[in-house]
Amino acid sequence: AAVLEAEDATVARGAVESNHRGYTGRGFVNYDNVTGSSVEWTVEAGAAGSVPLTLRFANGTTTDRPMTLTVNGTPVATGRSFPGTGAWTRWQTTTLDVNLQEGTNTVRATATTANGGPNVDSLTVGDSGGPGPGPG
Ligand code: GCU
Repeated sequence: AAVLEAEDATVARGAVESNHRGYTGRGFVNYDNVTGSSVEWTVEAGAAGSVPLTLRFANGTTTDRPMTLTVNGTPVATGRSFPGTGAWTRWQTTTLDVNLQEGTNTVRATATTANGGPNVDSLTVGDSGGPGPGPG
């Protein structure tokens, strides 16, 4: 599976930060606390078909931070839940299957409430190989 770091993606209304441990790569994206803040990844696919997408995130609040996920501009999950994870250093994953087209695709995660999105670490394309390293 390919791990695409959020800090290497296109961020609209958010900041790359590294002040909460447990992230992979150089850091994570802290979405601005506004509706519409987003991260967009470019995803290459060798062939058209269904593939699992896994978002790794942390939400240190007790309030859901829902986001809408789009593939090539088409919503594939509207207001998907990114619930509290217990702390900003506790990272969890959520996975959904999507259809990609052959070649270049865009995958975007956009906050749907004024709280913005959770902190987002990465997008994994393909089988993510289990729950990952866990908290901390
Ligand atoms: C805190 C936290 C950030 C987080 C923010 C938020 O400031 O340190 O990492 O993004 O809360 O509520 O979105």
